[in-house]
Amino acid sequence: MSEGLRPFSAKVNRRIVCCDALQFYEGPVRSGKTQASLMSLLYYIATHPVKVGIMSGNTIGSLIRNCIKSKMGFLDLCPKAKHGMRDNVNQILVPTDHGDVTIYLFGGGKANSDDQLRGVTAEFWYADEITKHHQNFINEAMARLAASDYPYMVWTSNPDNPRHPLYVEHTDKYLHMSPEEKEAFGGYHEFHFVLEDNPIMTPKKIAALKLRYTGMEYKRKILGERCIAEGLVFPFFGPQCIKTPPSDVKVGYAAIDYGAVHPTAMGWYGRSPSTKEWYKVREWVATPEQSASMTTADYLRVFEEITDKLGGINRMNVAIDYGGGGEALAREFEKRRWMPQNPNKSVLDGISEMARMLNTGRLFISPDCPQTIDGIYLYHWDEKASERGETKPVKQYDDTVDETRYMVATFIEPRVRK
Ligand SMILES: Nc1ncnc2c1ncn2[C@@H]1O[C@H](COP(=O)(O)OP(=O)(O)O)[C@@H](O)[C@H]1O
Ligand SMILES: [Mg+2]
Repeated sequence: MSEGLRPFSAKVNRRIVCCDALQFYEGPVRSGKTQASLMSLLYYIATHPVKVGIMSGNTIGSLIRNCIKSKMGFLDLCPKAKHGMRDNVNQILVPTDHGDVTIYLFGGGKANSDDQLRGVTAEFWYADEITKHHQNFINEAMARLAASDYPYMVWTSNPDNPRHPLYVEHTDKYLHMSPEEKEAFGGYHEFHFVLEDNPIMTPKKIAALKLRYTGMEYKRKILGERCIAEGLVFPFFGPQCIKTPPSDVKVGYAAIDYGAVHPTAMGWYGRSPSTKEWYKVREWVATPEQSASMTTADYLRVFEEITDKLGGINRMNVAIDYGGGGEALAREFEKRRWMPQNPNKSVLDGISEMARMLNTGRLFISPDCPQTIDGIYLYHWDEKASERGETKPVKQYDDTVDETRYMVATFIEPRVRK
């Protein structure tokens, strides 16, 4: 067993040894859900004569990062297990007293993710971030366990929108089953975690973690409450986030949100070597006339003119989102030896990082960027989508915000010490 593992409380230990049909571990970030649920999975495998199981995450990459190769993840906790590709499927082979156990690894987040499950018969299923799985995958995985003599599922998640289909179609229903139905199902448990359930979370670490989240995310990821997204995305944004860059800020980075059907937005950024603060120094947003007439070559020219005036930047320090036609602009840039980076981040993760940078005084917006300032002030959650259980912002006046988000995801977040 891995060094560094601290004993959980008696309450969490009782959860770990529970091997009923479905355990749902829900709670804030860093509350120990993944750690405890992985230990539960290993306990189940060691104590039941099973042969085949499934583990899934939003993507195969996130599953491997969060649960398999993480510190004190599956391979750390079970050093004899072997991870590799076989028959084109990612899998783990776990030697046990009752023979080898094979666990197939899948990403479950896409509409067609369930295709991978066809033909698989399994006895147990572990799902990381279950609210990020597609409903088809969830239904198919449950069906794959139908013939198991020892059905066991464990799902982990941060709280989401109370109308999320996971709750509506699954967990709320299971919670309200009659005792007879529960028995026929094989048992269902909702384990609500709190930050203090993780033995390494000292009051000091909890205080630091609280600074990372605001608004809806604070409710979900710190308080552990399910809540809808409503109102402003950046409710804290105000004059304290708007500041003229000090004289030692040299522009070194840029980001572009190319729009075929909305205005193209560009932004230029720099960091103060003395204070380590980042600044959005300049913005450029196409007018409706420019949007109607400009080609990708025209945008490149505007970009180079402004970049030259600002003193020039390294050819690798520009982020262009490849979505929405942006790839064509990136190709145009490559012709002139630019090496644009594709941000490649989910919208919610990007918003979360941007909120953290603005709210903790790591990123400021110059008063020379009025459209960015208005865009951030106006950015709000889509309440119609909230009613359907989704969490997404309204796509309106969001071009400057998107471009700032790309900058944060590509260049700022990786350089800011956590
Ligand atoms: N019992 C424990 N002993 C030592 N470290 C732990 C323990 N439980 C959790 N941790 C560590 O705390 C961090 C957060 O735990 P994790 O289980 O990933 O939380 P969650 O899944 O709720 O976000 C991880 O680095 C994890 O290894
Ligand atoms: Mg986790």
